[in-house]
Amino acid sequence: MAEFTLPKNSRVIEGKKWPKPEGASNTKAFKIYRWSPDSGENPRVDTYYLDLDDCGPMVLDALIKIKNDVDPTLTFRRSCREGVCGSCAMNIDGTNTLACTKYIADAKGDVRVYPLPHQSVIKDLVPDQTHFFAQYRQIEPWLKTDSQPPERERLQSPEDRAKMDGMWECVLCACCSTSCPSYWWNEDRYLGPAILLQAYRWLADSRDEATGDRLDQLEDPFRLYRCHTIMNCTRTCPKSLNPARAIAEIKKMMVERRV
Ligand code: SF4
Ligand code: SF4
Ligand code: FES
Repeated sequence: MAEFTLPKNSRVIEGKKWPKPEGASNTKAFKIYRWSPDSGENPRVDTYYLDLDDCGPMVLDALIKIKNDVDPTLTFRRSCREGVCGSCAMNIDGTNTLACTKYIADAKGDVRVYPLPHQSVIKDLVPDQTHFFAQYRQIEPWLKTDSQPPERERLQSPEDRAKMDGMWECVLCACCSTSCPSYWWNEDRYLGPAILLQAYRWLADSRDEATGDRLDQLEDPFRLYRCHTIMNCTRTCPKSLNPARAIAEIKKMMVERRV
C-alpha cells in the first residue's frame, strides 16, 4: 500500500510557549500556526496565553491583543471587524470561519487557529487568494445588458429583488470553497461553491441580459459539475448562506434550457 508523508520541511512542529500574563486568573491558551517564507524553518504552532478579563470577546480581538501586546510578528488579515469584508477568514477549532464573528467562549479548550486549508500560505494566517479571485473574475461579476439603457436606473420589482437574497450577503471569504473536498482536488478547474454562488447571483438578477452566455460558460464537466452535494460549504458558511442550493439552482437552469 502506498504511504504518503509530508516532506520534512512541511511538518508542523511545536513552537514557542509564551509566558502567561502575570496575576491573571481567567487565562485561555491560543495555539496559533506560524510560518514565514523568510526563515527557512518548518511551520510551527506557538502557544500564547491571554487574560480573558482584559480582552474583547472575539477570536479576532485575541489576535489583535497578541499582536499589540505580546508578539508583533504575528501576521493575519482583517479590516472591518464586523463580518462584512471577509478578510479575517481562517480555520478556528477545525472550522473555517470569520475570526471577528467567532466568540472565544465557543471554544471548549485551547483555541486552535490555522490558515484556511488547501490554499498556499503567504505568512502565518494569511493564505494566497490569487487563484480564488481570478476565478471570481472569470464569471464576469457585473451587470451585462444589450438593451437600450433607460433614462434613469434599471428598475427591479421587490419580488425580483428578493430572488437575490441569500447571495448579496456573501462576503467572498472563501470559507466554503476551502472546506469543499471537490475544490481541494480540482481547484484548477472546478469553480467551487463561493464563485458558483456569485455566478448564480447574476443568473438570478432580473436586470441581467446575459443568462445564456453565463450558462454557456458554466456548461463544462469541471467548472460546475464537480459539486457532489457533500454540503460542507453550507455547513461552514459564517454568514449562514447556502452555496449548495445556489449550485443546485444553476444545474436546474441548465436542465430547463435543454427542454
Ligand atoms: S458563501 Fe459564505 S462561506 Fe462562501 S464565500 Fe460567501 S460568505 Fe464566505
Ligand atoms: S455541496 Fe458541492 S460545493 Fe458544497 S461542499 Fe459539497 S461538493 Fe463542495
Ligand atoms: S474583519 Fe472583516 S469579516 Fe472579519
